[in-house]
Amino acid sequence: MELAICSRHQFPQLLGDAIITALQQEGSVCLASGDTPQLAYRYVAAQYQRRPFPLRATLVGLDEWVGFGPQDEGSCQYAMHHDLYQHLSLRPGQLRQFDARRAGDALEEECHRMNQLLTEQPLRLVLVGIGQNGHLGLNEPGVAFSSLAHVSNLSETTVRVAQKYFPQSTTLRQGITLGIANILASEKIIAVANGAHKRDIIQRLLMTPPSETLPATSLKQHHNTQLLLDDAVFHVENIL
Ligand code: PGA
Repeated sequence: MELAICSRHQFPQLLGDAIITALQQEGSVCLASGDTPQLAYRYVAAQYQRRPFPLRATLVGLDEWVGFGPQDEGSCQYAMHHDLYQHLSLRPGQLRQFDARRAGDALEEECHRMNQLLTEQPLRLVLVGIGQNGHLGLNEPGVAFSSLAHVSNLSETTVRVAQKYFPQSTTLRQGITLGIANILASEKIIAVANGAHKRDIIQRLLMTPPSETLPATSLKQHHNTQLLLDDAVFHVENIL
């Protein structure tokens, strides 16, 4: 895992430029929602509006709250649409994501469909945020590193932290997510964290050998992962 640290001000552009490069190449690219990459997406959208660049990549959704869809404010797909996708001229079929509004067996079918898609069109890049409990996507603590796309039971921390995305207090129980094994199969991974509230989890991540109790430590088993942090997260005196 290669560590890259930049200032809070550089973070959106640095990340945004990496996304722009990936979008211009053939292959599947998976972009996570969340506050961490939000300004980078706005930067990408602004660059595209100013001077459209070719969009050759297929976009793959990382995860979603079960029961929620792209029309629901607070959903992962709503945020991605709002900050990025609606500003890009995507072809029909260029964006592939879970339908988390389905129920029961149909959700299992969604996971199967996504695993199939990734077998046919392997991921070239995954951009993923590190959650405050060390989750990746909605792979919660305890998840097997061998997991493929699945429905997960959300941890208390995830449910509490996720309230920030919704306009009102919202009941969340499950998520549907690419699995750790899907993420690790990507050619390249960029994992991101910014802000002082992520200091503790990043410190734990850096100190802990790969362990299923901390899903983000799975990234240490990947040969081409960059952990991009801003200088509010990474304080040398905290880490050493
Ligand atoms: P955040 O979420 O970018 O809003 O901090 C990251 C995550 O929980 O995966």
